[in-house]
Amino acid sequence: MPTSSPHVIAIVSQKGGSGKTTLAVHLASRAAQAGRESCIVDTDPQATAAAWSDWRGDYLPVVVTSPPARLGRTIESAKKNGVDFVVVDTPPHADAAAREAIKAADIVLIPSKPRAFDLHALAPIADLISFAKKPAYVVLNSVPAGATVLSEEARKSAKKMGLKMCSVSLGDRAAFHRSSAKGETAAEIDPEGKAAKEIEKLWKWLGKKLARS
Ligand SMILES: Nc1ncnc2c1ncn2[C@@H]1O[C@H](COP(=O)(O)OP(=O)(O)O)[C@@H](O)[C@H]1O
Ligand SMILES: [Mg+2]
Repeated sequence: MPTSSPHVIAIVSQKGGSGKTTLAVHLASRAAQAGRESCIVDTDPQATAAAWSDWRGDYLPVVVTSPPARLGRTIESAKKNGVDFVVVDTPPHADAAAREAIKAADIVLIPSKPRAFDLHALAPIADLISFAKKPAYVVLNSVPAGATVLSEEARKSAKKMGLKMCSVSLGDRAAFHRSSAKGETAAEIDPEGKAAKEIEKLWKWLGKKLARS
């Protein structure tokens, strides 16, 4: 991944429990592991990413909280302090918080379970994205084993809304919730596990997209 210019990744979705914070902590941790000055800006009033950081103790990545209205300034001051990889975690709405995160982002990731109700909830986000003209990708998350048909349907409905799909999806894996509950990542509790491998693939995919942006 290029290290010259700072990158801002926004993670948005209207649905709670779709995997925003899971993606945020795993990608920011992977970036820190790669030597990036990585920081999560948590704009969710529930501050789950910040709680994860408390459980984690002193380890990287840095997590700061910011009200959505201050997001631009928070990112600017992080960059001034040497941060070159920012992941913005957001609350479950398609409102001001999502809009500000999308505005600040180089790339937007939209985690979603491959289920009809979850996919239906992508529509307001799709509108925000098309207005902001930012590269954005749906990342299917918590995909049950062998759910090829489900994933294919999800792809189709995302496409209908004009959203692009990330070619990497994450399975429904205990390592994601077990690790997060302890302030860790899937790779830290099970380095050879499937969850860790999926994050690795996602990280490589993201690197290619950022290199092009
Ligand atoms: N791929 C996955 N496999 C298993 N559990 C997951 C997965 N993604 C998220 N979870 C769990 O689901 C819950 C909600 O995820 P979270 O990332 O907090 O969603 P959000 O931030 O969108 O509300 C958490 O307990 C998390 O550990
Ligand atoms: Mg969250």
